[in-house]
Amino acid sequence: MGQYESLKEDILGFSSLGAAALWEIPEARTVFDHFKQLLNAGLVRAAEKSGGEWVVNAWVKEGILLGMRLGRLQESHVPLDGHGAGFTFIDKDTYPLKAITLDNNVRIVPGGSAVRDGSYLAPSVVMMPPAYVNVGAYVDEGTMIDSHALVGSCAQVGKKVHLSAGVQVGGVLEPVGAMPVIIEDEVMVGGNCGIYEGTIVRERAVIGTGVILNGSTPVYDIALNTVYRKTAEAPLVIPAGAVVVAGSRKIKGDFASEHGLSIYTPVIIKYRDERTDSATALEEALR
Ligand SMILES: CC(C)(COP(=O)(O)OP(=O)(O)OC[C@H]1O[C@@H](n2cnc3c(N)ncnc32)[C@H](O)[C@@H]1OP(=O)(O)O)[C@@H](O)C(=O)NCCC(=O)NCCS
Repeated sequence: MGQYESLKEDILGFSSLGAAALWEIPEARTVFDHFKQLLNAGLVRAAEKSGGEWVVNAWVKEGILLGMRLGRLQESHVPLDGHGAGFTFIDKDTYPLKAITLDNNVRIVPGGSAVRDGSYLAPSVVMMPPAYVNVGAYVDEGTMIDSHALVGSCAQVGKKVHLSAGVQVGGVLEPVGAMPVIIEDEVMVGGNCGIYEGTIVRERAVIGTGVILNGSTPVYDIALNTVYRKTAEAPLVIPAGAVVVAGSRKIKGDFASEHGLSIYTPVIIKYRDERTDSATALEEALR
């Protein structure tokens, strides 16, 4: 993203100013609108892969926050009957719904889904209702976002990913975080999973139903006899092809053992095999 160096400088320059000062500078809005256009087109991303590793573009989050400060409350109304009844929404005028047309070649199945301006949906993405894609999110080709799923702010979701019903992919805006959640190509995330706090799920991993991953959950790999955890320098990374299921482990200490207590923990039970492939095969007809 070297070609956006001057945009980055402008954004960081305006970022130190409060809303009242920004409203007096028309150029701030022009810069933000240009930045948002690039986010909408997927040309500017909160994180991108470079030499096999993910690099966070911290200024992108600053740009999104700039839009929050620049925005003024605006009411929008979706009429239902032509007599005043309908849905009213109130949000910052910098973040309306994303304008999506047939040319985008995505499917947003009717029923209460919303895609916020400043997010990217690649052609052939499918959204089942209701689902929400927040600002800064990037969702690549062929990905299915099933009902009740959230793609949080700045989350980066790869190609042919399946986010099953109820999956929550956390965002970076609040609570304050630096690293967006990253889900690489062909990952299958089972129903009701939660992936938070900058976790990286490498390609073709399978996250079993109900698994929660965040910066405080060590992941026990019983196939390779190792433990993965977030460190001060690096986020939690789920290796490529890992099959993660919801497990538990004993809590240390006399009181805990006296009461037989255990705590939830994700476990890598194995790495993808033919059985996993058949359990997670996607239905092309749905895409
Ligand atoms: C992970 C998953 C794909 C199974 O993968 P798989 O490769 O077929 O797993 P296997 O059946 O070979 O199981 C391997 C071992 O893990 C255990 N296991 C598998 N899935 C498990 C799960 N979700 N939770 C706990 N243990 C699990 C099995 O009991 C087995 O252990 P064993 O050898 O001691 O009997 C499946 O459990 C899953 O979560 N699917 C997602 C379903 C879903 O949420 N769909 C969304 C629809 S909207």
